[in-house]
Amino acid sequence: MSEKKSALFICLGNICRSPIAEAVFITLLKERNITEQWIVDSAAMASYHIGKGPDERAMSTLKAHKVIYSHKVRQIQNEDFQKFDFIFGMDNENMRSLNRQAPAKSTSKLLLLGDFDPQGDRIIRDPYYDDDDIGFEKCYQQCIRSCASFLDKQQ
Ligand code: 4NP
Repeated sequence: MSEKKSALFICLGNICRSPIAEAVFITLLKERNITEQWIVDSAAMASYHIGKGPDERAMSTLKAHKVIYSHKVRQIQNEDFQKFDFIFGMDNENMRSLNRQAPAKSTSKLLLLGDFDPQGDRIIRDPYYDDDDIGFEKCYQQCIRSCASFLDKQQ
């Protein structure tokens, strides 16, 4: 049995985009019967929402797609840069923050999730300031496409 691979999804608050990405990734692993091969988590760059659950709109979007998920916000730690093989950011600001925070001994690959989108939609929609759920659905669809294509490349 080879060692597990590991993926950490991050965004600014860990209440909208990265929980959706994590939930989508876990669902894809289940569909492909490879759950046991992966360690998956999500985290925030910022401390604003530590300990909270995901945004209600993120949860209702996941529920609409029959995805069961629970998570409590945690902030990324320096150890994460050695613990996870892949750390995925959702936008360019996330990538700048990750690259700034990565300790010299970091071994993680820091990747923009949307770089795996076959449709080339590189920036995962940040729906936090929206008045409705539409941006959350868009974020969900982007995450499905990018995570599926990333996993295809891992086989
Ligand atoms: P997320 O969305 O980074 O996708 O979880 C946001 C959540 C909170 C804030 C901004 C974006 N905020 O400014 O509090």
